[in-house]
Amino acid sequence: MSAGQPGRRLGILLSGRGSNFQAIAQQCVAGRLNAQIVVVISNRADAAGLEAARAMGIPSVVIPSQGVERVAHDRMVAEALDEAAVDYVILAGYMRILSAWFIQHYPQRILNIHPALLPAFPGLDAQHQAWEYGVRYAGCTVHFVDEKMDSGPIIDQAVVPVLESDRAEDVAARILAEEHRLYSEAIGKVLQGGWRVDGRRVLFER
Ligand code: GAR
Repeated sequence: MSAGQPGRRLGILLSGRGSNFQAIAQQCVAGRLNAQIVVVISNRADAAGLEAARAMGIPSVVIPSQGVERVAHDRMVAEALDEAAVDYVILAGYMRILSAWFIQHYPQRILNIHPALLPAFPGLDAQHQAWEYGVRYAGCTVHFVDEKMDSGPIIDQAVVPVLESDRAEDVAARILAEEHRLYSEAIGKVLQGGWRVDGRRVLFER
């Protein structure tokens, strides 16, 4: 089983809640994204996103990462992705750094979402970093994954205001709502084709 229309095959990697995964799955099922999620892989057995995948009838796999050497783990993940014949690898809160081997195995076929307007605030807890810094605008970024963390050519971004009355959690919630919209839209653009990467820039044919 898989979620969505027969179309391009997406493999999801996640480590936690899985709300971005669920937002993408809903767009696939509704036929607004011409794709199907064929496998969900988590490095953590307790990831809530796995339960959601099971409820949707999507094959889910746990490949524990603790104590496993990075490339060895990535090879196991790639084996599961390749077995499911995925066209694109979608990182949805996958809190691991990928090896160069893995990234080269899927050239320009790995997408990530980060809850900040990159290149500002890479790394963990980006929403809190932005709030603490005192930015007036925050947001999220969908990008191709390259060998550095939260780097790689930018596919799309969305901006949200930061109000003086906001706590960091308010900013995070406002960003998350935009993440749920932006990620599916960005995946849709990539699946449509007609783009190329020129240095750091992703250029779409109009
Ligand atoms: C999301 O906010 C995503 O942008 C972030 O983890 C969260 C996962 O939430 N990813 C990163 O920080 C990657 N550097 P979710 O599990 O509910 O989709």
